[in-house]
Amino acid sequence: MLIHTIAEVREQIKLWKKEGLTIGLVPTMGALHAGHLSLIKKAVEKCDKVVVSVFVNPIQFCPGEDLDKYPRTLEADQKLCEDAGVNIVFAPSPAEMYGENQMRTNDFLTYVIPPFFYVNKLCGKSRVGHFDGVCTVVNKLFNIVQPDFAFFGQKDAQQLIIIKKMVKDLNIPVEIIPCPIVRESSGLALSSRNKYLSDDDKIQALALSKILNNIKNCYQKGITDVEALKETAYSFLNENHDLEYLEFMDENNLDEVKKANDNTRVFIACKVGGVRLIDNILLKD
Ligand code: PAF
Repeated sequence: MLIHTIAEVREQIKLWKKEGLTIGLVPTMGALHAGHLSLIKKAVEKCDKVVVSVFVNPIQFCPGEDLDKYPRTLEADQKLCEDAGVNIVFAPSPAEMYGENQMRTNDFLTYVIPPFFYVNKLCGKSRVGHFDGVCTVVNKLFNIVQPDFAFFGQKDAQQLIIIKKMVKDLNIPVEIIPCPIVRESSGLALSSRNKYLSDDDKIQALALSKILNNIKNCYQKGITDVEALKETAYSFLNENHDLEYLEFMDENNLDEVKKANDNTRVFIACKVGGVRLIDNILLKD
């Protein structure tokens, strides 16, 4: 069932709650791929009813980012969801979510702002305000759908950690279910933005997963010094890569790590053919 309004979703949720059914939410920005489908599959297995939101959230895009050209494929998304057993595809307009005028400037909207310590690093450094937009929309979706479980991919690991923190700090009654990264057989992590890559870019993009896997191998052979592990990345990079960051952080609280351990997650962001790609890996097996 495709629904565009908050009121209609609420009506349906009320009925399901009355029946005591469990509700799963998979928040997405659409352009669904096998990565999203793995979250949806998990949700359908775990919950009585599943809502997938499809909303390209304008307030999480920074000026100059790809808001206008972000792929919008609602018809195909709806078909994929139906085939996967989703009960509601919730696809609101920006006006439905934020009102007609509220997005003009931040002054007009109540935001959920995650702690500075969690956002002044990794993607938050170059995407200033991005996680405010993510937390605000995810909080709104939680309020609208009131899910028992919400499913997020580990591909956006910083996002996942920040959302878990928000849920804990604000006592939101939802359980966050992290889902593993889905990769092409080449190793490339699936992303809606892969659509922007040419065939050659896609080959160059393999550097990200190669760097991460190589670091994990080195760690498993006993190298724990982060600077030494970082050094290993350079043999995979060439003039086609614009490395934004390669960072080692504690998987639970995004503390910077100097000596790698099993709880260390390695995060990488790199532009390939002008497309900003991210990936990450946990050093523990
Ligand atoms: O990960 C995404 O696709 C988005 O950041 C999310 C969680 C759907 C919020 O817009």
